[in-house]
Amino acid sequence: MNRLVICDHPLIQHKLTFIRDKNTNTKDFRELVDEVATLMAYEITREMPLDTIKVQTPIMETDSKVLAGRMLGLIPILRAGLGMVEGILKLIPAAKVGHIGLSRDHDTLQPVEYYINLPTDAQNRQLIVIDPMLATGGSAIAAINSLKKRGCEQIKMMCLIAAPEGVKALHEAHPEVDIYVAALDERLNEKGYIIPGLGDAGDRMFGTN
Ligand code: URA
Repeated sequence: MNRLVICDHPLIQHKLTFIRDKNTNTKDFRELVDEVATLMAYEITREMPLDTIKVQTPIMETDSKVLAGRMLGLIPILRAGLGMVEGILKLIPAAKVGHIGLSRDHDTLQPVEYYINLPTDAQNRQLIVIDPMLATGGSAIAAINSLKKRGCEQIKMMCLIAAPEGVKALHEAHPEVDIYVAALDERLNEKGYIIPGLGDAGDRMFGTN
């Protein structure tokens, strides 16, 4: 319950520095996010259960391990979450990918779901919700609410950078959802940006602003 895993591998931390750097161009930003997503996939799959099967080597038959249990489903929150999908698929090519689109209601400032498309067997998969920035936690909570409403129970959250406010809110709403981040930053500023953060992840990923 209330588990926050900070993926502090030196390669992740090194690449994150250049992701944060405002002088990193769109192409390099994308490539670095992709690489960090691959490295974080290694961490998030660390506890996947294994079965033992027999395998015949050229020398003899032996017991050996294969992945057991639930297959994975990746659920990027549009649009910035898309930038981490390919990197994860490099390690887990059999994962299926669903999408959730959320916009912010101008009056209530609450997230509103405008799109959802899930693998047909999402309920039987270990799902990883992906959003590079866990700021207020509003989008992550809404996405996970939506998955739970559709019968999904095995859910983890993967982000590049989290604010303590977002971690607290997500833990309160969904205490059983483990959160994986590359960094836990200081706080949100008055505009809702994570500081020091990396700016707007979607804009930096897609070269918009
Ligand atoms: N979303 C972003 O892209 N950046 C932030 O700092 C906060 C939310």
